[in-house]
Amino acid sequence: MKARVNSPVTLWPWLLLSLALAPLPGPAATLVVHADRPGAAISPNLYGAFFEDINRAGDGGLYAELVQNRSFEDATNLIAWTPLTNAAARVTFTLDQSAPLNPANPTSLKLSIAATGGGRAGVYNQGFKGVTAGKAPDTSEAWRRRFDAAQRSPANGLAVQAGRAYLFSVYARSRDFTGPLAVSLETQSGEVLAQERIPNLGGDWRRFALTLTPARTDPDARLVIAADQPGTLWLDMVSLFPKDTWKNHGWRPDLAEMMAGLHPALLRFPGGSYSEGHILADAWRWKETIGDVAARPGTWNIWGYRSTGGLGFHEYLQLAEDLGAEPLYVAHAGMAEVGFVPLVEFGPWVQDVLDAIEYANGPVTSHWGALRAQNGHPAPFHLKYVEIGNENGMGYSWGGGTRGDYLPRYQAILARIQAAHPEIVTIANLHTEPDAPADMVDEHYYDSSDWFFNAATKYDHYDRTGPKIYVGEYAVTHDAGHGNLRAALAEAAFLTGLERNGDVVAMSSYAPLFTNPQWQRWSPDAIVFDPTRVYGTPSYHLQTMFAANRADLVLPVDLPVTTNAVPTLFAIAGLKKDSGDLILKVVNRSDRPESLDLQLSGLSGTISGGTCTELSAASLDAENSFEQPQNIFPKTTRLVAGDLSAPHIFPAYSATVLRWSTHSILR
Ligand code: AHR
Repeated sequence: MKARVNSPVTLWPWLLLSLALAPLPGPAATLVVHADRPGAAISPNLYGAFFEDINRAGDGGLYAELVQNRSFEDATNLIAWTPLTNAAARVTFTLDQSAPLNPANPTSLKLSIAATGGGRAGVYNQGFKGVTAGKAPDTSEAWRRRFDAAQRSPANGLAVQAGRAYLFSVYARSRDFTGPLAVSLETQSGEVLAQERIPNLGGDWRRFALTLTPARTDPDARLVIAADQPGTLWLDMVSLFPKDTWKNHGWRPDLAEMMAGLHPALLRFPGGSYSEGHILADAWRWKETIGDVAARPGTWNIWGYRSTGGLGFHEYLQLAEDLGAEPLYVAHAGMAEVGFVPLVEFGPWVQDVLDAIEYANGPVTSHWGALRAQNGHPAPFHLKYVEIGNENGMGYSWGGGTRGDYLPRYQAILARIQAAHPEIVTIANLHTEPDAPADMVDEHYYDSSDWFFNAATKYDHYDRTGPKIYVGEYAVTHDAGHGNLRAALAEAAFLTGLERNGDVVAMSSYAPLFTNPQWQRWSPDAIVFDPTRVYGTPSYHLQTMFAANRADLVLPVDLPVTTNAVPTLFAIAGLKKDSGDLILKVVNRSDRPESLDLQLSGLSGTISGGTCTELSAASLDAENSFEQPQNIFPKTTRLVAGDLSAPHIFPAYSATVLRWSTHSILR
């Protein structure tokens, strides 16, 4: 970058309009951006996304499957399926394991129809209505009542759109059953929206597929599978997917678009506590999540439901590619929350990590690379980041083990990765130094807004000789409501510190990403959805604003001197190397607007136009909701070119991104 001469450029009155509208505060103080003193590089990967199947983010969320409990493995009773029968019919519904579809999918639904009573006999599914469960008590009567109440409620239904094609498939077999099987989308009152028939089932398992195109839109439909002849039949792996999904890879389009709006540089997956499992039997083992979805066993998800594994290792890598994000795989370190793999038995778990890298990146001539090609992606996925475990060894009261449990497992995986794949950047889930080296360490922060405001300077004082830091999970949780402006502003202040310390902090990702409130186990979350609606919290919008305006080099900022014990203004400035754009991010947490003279020190001339994007509201408690999804929403105005000196007003309770094109004066 070349900058001309010395005198400060005053950045001028792009907001004449807002001056006219807003009450003028006292005399303007000065905010100086030292445009001629570019400092540390800001990591291009600073803004990432962390995807975990929590709050139905995956099954019932981004993974566009519309059938809950599609393989009848979710519970020991018929969860999410309702028998369809009549008073004169004689039908029994049994979860049957006598002739499994495959070993990973032992349970199927057996319908024994002795008499149809002149009507029809079958089952229906209403999508992802329901409530979370604990693994042990999910068969209790109290829980069942809550689940059934959710099934009866019109909220969170199986939503279908008129004219949109839905791909239905089922594995089925029969005995003494001659009739066709009718498959339909129906309203709650039984009006048929779309119907097709499967004529002959046969005695052995076979997959049947058909397309249903509903005649009209219904946010609360039923998928009905029914017979009007007696006989015995078995069903398994019942699936209904919209034909059109985001990038044709099975992602619910509106949710995927929200993720894309984060411009994530990296995608951390699959968790989180979900990947660890509370016990080892529930650990996320990537090899159980690839290939034919009907042969994936699924796992009990620590967040209160069963995950199908449909969103598997291959799909996560594909999602990262679709988002243009670097995949970051959280490999299992042999430690569930409670229960660890004994070190003498740890070899296969280490090999799993090596195999995962080969699956993602290996040539098609390699064993796992060939499988990737067979699964539809011959080109490597370019996995570069592997995190060894999640929050293991931190000595939590509910589990997690000690640092002493983690270190040998970490080192065993690290050594093999370093030997076989020196190109992979490994991430430790806690500070392993000085006992073991680390390329990078993942730090997680969930705390109050005050903690985050105070932590805006946390990394200013960090050890520059240690490993790079990945702030892999963070969010204001203590005073954030369901996701309020206070949280977004505190996170924004914290982010100014991450940007300023690009020589320490390489990456970050807000957490968690998604919630369906009916299945919520963690709050707040960045993106809130139900089957037909989605909105971003203020924290989500803040992320989009900051991630869309990444600078490459930090420019020092002088904020006005304040006597306040607690600072109310936070700022970070940076330079975009290719365009020469200057980016200034300012957080005003106070209840008063701040009028500042903005000065670019070390440059002269005038500045061509730019943009001002603001996120603010009258109250720190303000939130978005399904009813008011854009109550708090970034507003962008254009900055006009000029050289007139005038203050910029940063509204009360606001985060602002100013971006100027300095093309004419920097070149
Ligand atoms: O983001 C929610 C949870 O918080 C994650 O699963 C876990 O890593 C952390 O404790």
